Amino acid sequence: MHALHHTTMRWRAAGQTFAFLPTMGALHAGHLKLARQGAEMADHVLASIFVNPKQFGPSEDFSRYPRDEAGDIALLQTSGVDLVFAPAPEDIYPEGFATTIHIQGPAKAGLEDRFRPNFFDGVATVVAKLLIAADADYALFGEKDYQQLQVVKQLAHDLGLRTAIVGITTQREPDGFAMSSRNRYLSKIERHQATAIFKNLNQAAVKIRGGAKAQSATRAASRSLTTLGFKVDYVVARNAETLAIPKHQDEPLRLLAAAWLGKTRLIDNIEV
Ligand code: PAJ
Repeated sequence: MHALHHTTMRWRAAGQTFAFLPTMGALHAGHLKLARQGAEMADHVLASIFVNPKQFGPSEDFSRYPRDEAGDIALLQTSGVDLVFAPAPEDIYPEGFATTIHIQGPAKAGLEDRFRPNFFDGVATVVAKLLIAADADYALFGEKDYQQLQVVKQLAHDLGLRTAIVGITTQREPDGFAMSSRNRYLSKIERHQATAIFKNLNQAAVKIRGGAKAQSATRAASRSLTTLGFKVDYVVARNAETLAIPKHQDEPLRLLAAAWLGKTRLIDNIEV
């Protein structure tokens, strides 16, 4: 943390702004889009690479999560990042660490929280620690993890952090499939099938814009994915800000989906 503070203090003393990009590494074009947006927004970009053990469930992929620190650092350098912070687990969670940040509201929307019970406690705890350590002007988060973005906004607001939380639109493959570090788990056939998530979300959004009921459109999308061999966790329409179940005709909606394809769990979401 000392090297980090040394540089960020120098930036602040020189009156320069900086954006912070927290990641778990295994970087792809989605992460790099966030880095480039940060470089446009601020004088400097700081990125972190930390595979946070607290946000993985006991049966999840913490030990096999892809790690390539040298490759990641090289990619970040070509995308406008000035400084990379890659702490060891004991830097973030020294012996005796006893704090958990527990968020209600968007973290209890019954989406990811329903299927990954300790996930947002783990995310909020590490993101709070990283945001406080970085003390940046901006912090960049992807809409790809839409519920996470809303949870981080809530956290920064509630704790009165000076950092502005900036959401960046999802980077997609040419066929619309959302980029993710976990996509490398997919077989060639699965990768081909996976595009159905985005296609079905889009079809549902088109129907809703055309006047169809959100619930019937998302149910049809869910059924279609099940028919195609996905094990669907959810396909739902929610209030785009609070993630609550929609109550009025004219509220802004977000369609969110999570589904398993073989052994890989995929998530995506789109604006209506
Ligand atoms: P990670 O999955 O590495 O993602 C880091 C950031 O990149 C997140 O804000 C995520 O939403 C964004 N991102 C991922 N795929 C994207 C895509 N296709 N388009 C745009 N942005 C994308 O999310 C995490 O790490 C962790 O939970 C973290 C916030 C670092 C806390 O440990």
